[in-house]
Amino acid sequence: MPSIGSYIPLLSRCCGDVEHTRMETSELKRFLRDIIAEAGRISLAYRARLDGLVVHHKLEKDLVTEADVAVEQFLVDAIRKRYPDHAILGEEGGEQQGVAFRWVIDPIDGTTSFIHGHPFYSVSIAVEHDGRTILAAVNAPVLDELFEAQMGSGATLNGKPVRVSRRSSLADSVLATGFACIRRGSAETNLPYFNRLLPAIRDVRRHGSAAVDLGYVACGRLEGFWELDLKIYDAAAGFLILTEAGGRYSDFGGGTANLYDQILATNGLIHEQVMDIFGQVAGR
Ligand code: IPD
Ligand code: CA
Ligand code: CA
Repeated sequence: MPSIGSYIPLLSRCCGDVEHTRMETSELKRFLRDIIAEAGRISLAYRARLDGLVVHHKLEKDLVTEADVAVEQFLVDAIRKRYPDHAILGEEGGEQQGVAFRWVIDPIDGTTSFIHGHPFYSVSIAVEHDGRTILAAVNAPVLDELFEAQMGSGATLNGKPVRVSRRSSLADSVLATGFACIRRGSAETNLPYFNRLLPAIRDVRRHGSAAVDLGYVACGRLEGFWELDLKIYDAAAGFLILTEAGGRYSDFGGGTANLYDQILATNGLIHEQVMDIFGQVAGR
């Protein structure tokens, strides 16, 4: 039987690695918190002069402003400077290759809200390691709300732990949604799902930022959120915040094969009930 002494190099390497990983994650978390706070401040400076804001049309109703571009450029420059070998996927700037770690950025989630002076927009950032989201932050600067999550360590709103609501009846539930599908002229739209679900629930909200909606499910203000035609940068951060708060997300069939084209995010207690109703729409 080898003595414990012979395991020390292995243990110290493992513990050293674990300690290094722990230190690396806490350093990443601090850096993420710093840059998303500054990104929020940059967005507020542009929000202070909406009348002169330069707005471009990606599609007729799909907009991008100089604020979206400036916020993303700030984030990309800061990440490149601190972590030059990390990959970055930004909504406006596309993919930049890297190794192991990837930053998934929506510089302004809710550009329509932003342009119209509504408070419901956010900066959304997820950090992946080997394809799994390990850190997330969603900053809604006008609302002064910062949602954060670390894989395995829970989710917080402004530093306080959050959990999904305990409501288990659709009749008691409020859900949020969006209509990117109509904006993008998609063949399948949200309207049949909206029309079928609405009579079964207490009410619906349409805030204008999927990332904020996911944070609101995580902290119990909503029992669910659903939408068609989203992208990874809309939801990657919100998904970790949701699951770390005890929530569940899937496509409308309960799996992940059709994710981002279909997103259903709930407190877990109403998930199957909503899927049953959506199944009726799809004739399942
Ligand atoms: C949009 C917002 C909106 C959702 C749209 C998204 P964007 O993000 O999240 O709430 O309904 O589908 O595209 O385009 O403003 O970053
Ligand atoms: Ca978005
Ligand atoms: Ca965006």
